[in-house]
This record gives sequence, structure tokens and C-alpha cells, in this order.
Amino acid sequence: MNPVTRAVCPGSFDPITNGHLDIIERTAGLFPEVIVGVLENPGKKPVFTLGERVELIGKAVSHLPNVQVHCFRGLLVDFVSKVKGNLIVKGLRAISDFEIELQMSLSNKKMAPEIETMFMMTKNEYSFLSSSMVKEIAQFGGDIRDLVPIEVATALKKKFSTNGER
Ligand code: PNS
Repeated sequence: MNPVTRAVCPGSFDPITNGHLDIIERTAGLFPEVIVGVLENPGKKPVFTLGERVELIGKAVSHLPNVQVHCFRGLLVDFVSKVKGNLIVKGLRAISDFEIELQMSLSNKKMAPEIETMFMMTKNEYSFLSSSMVKEIAQFGGDIRDLVPIEVATALKKKFSTNGER
């Protein structure tokens, strides 16, 4: 494998959590360039639009000069090739993540053997955290300030405020 010059951290990021941010920060400390790839999935109805997700991630990673945020649709391996990346980095929270991640990384390896996938264990404090959990807590008025970047907490509060938006 060639030395990693550009690593890709992919996800739906609806919205980005502190768990995602931890993985992005650690990846940015290991490799020269990191691209956060935000999936546009027409089959799903996200709480945040693609533009909102990209903007929120951009704010959350603004302290990391070697990180860029892009969006993609279709296959992850095509996106990684398009941006000239050679490594996919993902976080693993628990054994329950393992099966699907194994399936995805083997599928990606079959389609693009030149691209490696690397997993990082999430910090213990974020091992329970998911975007869905955060949305559920926010929807019912729970405190999410320790779980997501501040801009995301504010945006979620706005989304789920009683002004009838959702
Ligand atoms: O944050 P998520 O939803 O767990 O991220 C999943 C993601 C975006 C990494 C995954 O769904 C993905 O890679 N989608 C692109 C479609 C694709 O490449 N599928 C084939 C191999 S999994």
C-alpha cells in the first residue's frame, strides 16, 4: 500500500456527534489530509438537509486545518477514488457495530482493493452515542450539550422547537 496521504471519514452525519468528531480529530492527527464525506442518501429522510449537515460539520472541524468536508452520493469507493484518497477511517463503538462494518469493508475491498479501511475504537465516553440517540433525546427536550458540538445542539433545539417545524 502507498503511504496514506488522504484519508476519508465517511458517514451520514445526521447530525455530527462528539463521537464522530473524536474520530475525525484523531484521523487528522495521523494523516496529512482528511476528507469528511457526507452521504447524500435519497432513500432516507434526514432531519438535517445535506447542506445543513455539511455546514454543521464545517463549523465543528474549523480548528482542524487539514480537514475538508465534501458530500457524495453513490458508492463510497467511487468517492474515495474521485478525491484521490487511499484510506477509509471509521469509528467502532461496540460489538454490535462490527458485523455491518465488516460487511461494508469487505464489500468495499472487493470493489476497490487499492483502498484500505481502518477502524478506531471510539472513546469510552462516546461508546453509547449515535446520531439517532441524540435526535431522540433532543426531540423530547433532553440535554445534549455534552454529546454534540455546540452548533449542533443549537440547531437541534431549533429543529425540535415547538414552532411546528417538525
Ligand atoms: O453514518 P453511517 O450512516 O453509518 O454511514 C454509512 C456510510 C455512509 C459509510 C455507508 O452507508 C456508505 O458507505 N454508503 C455509500 C454506499 C456504498 O458505498 N455502499 C456499498 C458498500 S457499504
